[in-house]
Amino acid sequence: MTYPKATSSSPAHLPLLFIKMRFVPFVALAAPVFAQYDAKPKPSAKPEKPQKPQLPGKPHPHGPPKKLVSRKDLIKDIKLEDLLAGSQQLQTFADEAGGNRAFGSTGHNATTEWLYQTLKATGYYDVYKQPFVELFTAATTKLTVAGEEIEAAYMTFGPSGDVTANVVKVNNLGCAVDDFPAGVSGQIALISRGTCPFADKAANAQTAGAVGAIIYNTEPNTPLSGTLGGDGDYAPVVGITKEAGEGIVAKLGNGTVEGTLFIDAIRENRTNYNVIAETKQGDHDNVLMLGGHTDSVFAGPGINDDGSGTIGTLMTGLALTKYKIKNAVRLGFWGAEEFGKLGSFYYMKTINGTFGGNATEANKIRAYLNFDMIASPNYVLGIYDGDGSAFNFSGAAGSDTIEKDFEEFYEERGLAHVPSLFTLRSDYAAFLENGIPSGGLFTGAEVLKTEEEAQLFGGEAGAPLDACYHQACDDIDNLALDAYLLNTQSIANSVAKYALSFEGIPRANMTLRKRGAERSRLMSRFDDGGHAHHGQTCGAGKHTI
Ligand code: BES
Ligand code: ZN
Repeated sequence: MTYPKATSSSPAHLPLLFIKMRFVPFVALAAPVFAQYDAKPKPSAKPEKPQKPQLPGKPHPHGPPKKLVSRKDLIKDIKLEDLLAGSQQLQTFADEAGGNRAFGSTGHNATTEWLYQTLKATGYYDVYKQPFVELFTAATTKLTVAGEEIEAAYMTFGPSGDVTANVVKVNNLGCAVDDFPAGVSGQIALISRGTCPFADKAANAQTAGAVGAIIYNTEPNTPLSGTLGGDGDYAPVVGITKEAGEGIVAKLGNGTVEGTLFIDAIRENRTNYNVIAETKQGDHDNVLMLGGHTDSVFAGPGINDDGSGTIGTLMTGLALTKYKIKNAVRLGFWGAEEFGKLGSFYYMKTINGTFGGNATEANKIRAYLNFDMIASPNYVLGIYDGDGSAFNFSGAAGSDTIEKDFEEFYEERGLAHVPSLFTLRSDYAAFLENGIPSGGLFTGAEVLKTEEEAQLFGGEAGAPLDACYHQACDDIDNLALDAYLLNTQSIANSVAKYALSFEGIPRANMTLRKRGAERSRLMSRFDDGGHAHHGQTCGAGKHTI
């Protein structure tokens, strides 16, 4: 089987299958300096009435479905032009919102509203937008040391600051308040990365009376993009490279060094939405759930991460509306994943008894399929290692079957696939923690393609699987079209299968969930936002430690 080759040409020539929907500006939250994070859509002369979205390429409405879904039929209904029209819609939302779809922004709100309206208009789904409130932070930074400007990364959840003071190196790694010499009071603390979370270092700096903190990396040639993990009492803090940090240490050997640290941070609680859509048909005590996250990072529009999973899930969901099914299918579009998988964890807490009630609702989810980055430009065809055969780290019981079913899809087509470690860097973590059998597809982020992978999938060995991961260039041109179509067909294959039967996948129960919780405790070693793959450490993603 051949697929269209990956291309960098814009799909703008494609017929616009979606009726363009413009949404009235949401809340004007931003101070001018943050216009880039939260630009309002351009005002139109007359607000257009949102029109009913059309099902891509299908008549709408198409009456009650008569035919039972089959894998073959559902796969056939997945069309590249629909995927690209969906991706273009997300690009437009980002363009109209200053270039991103980060949580709480107009770009993200437009995305969730559009998903909600599109799915509701089918009449096939019960749809709801689930609001939740989380602290949003973002900042512009500037660091000058000894008159030289140094690239400095904001640490998520950190405070603002504007200080000029001497830079003082702390002892050891700054993990104990004792590491901070008395002379750091009123000055800027310089601290090496290592051993304890950035949050501890920034809090200790604050306790020691430092007016700022600079944390330098221990990995060579890598910017230190970190998160403090949550709100706290921190000194204004930034991350810099190992080389820049060692440069300052060298200068300190020759005498006093002055620095200016400027952080202009926005910190505010923002309402954010999950979109949950469940088929009206099917057995609601035996539910297949699938989804991906709908938010991007601030740096860019997130068209592969995770526009690809969002649209892949949506188009499979829309294709399904032609058919009868046995098991209910629930689509989960998660908000605020890029801030710590907040949406999926919030959702899980609403159904697993955390917020009251009991776990009956969670037990009804028989399987969860996650799609986060399914069209990486230098892709591998990755399937989460549900049986633990590759990484000795399995998902909840039944995850092995989910993996095997995905594998079969590629094998039937004579295509290679590789196992992908459950790193807990995406929304499936919330489900695995609750003992729910999980799986999914992943075509790769910052990790470099190996020679062996280049043999299997083509593409460029030694280059990142997605060189635009978490960057402005993760745009409409950042999609491998062949992988996008193939993987969405693969989603359709599994969805059709489980919409008919969960054979081979045991229901999660309290015992399994307890075991899942224990596993998640063990797995927490992976869950530091920092990560290694194939022995490579990576510079992307937000580290906490
Ligand atoms: N899609 C990315 C990254 C990713 C990498 C997912 C590998 C699955 C496997 C995801 O959106 C992401 O960037 N996650 C954050 C973690 C989050 C908790 C802040 C990351 O890995 O830095
Ligand atoms: Zn992602």
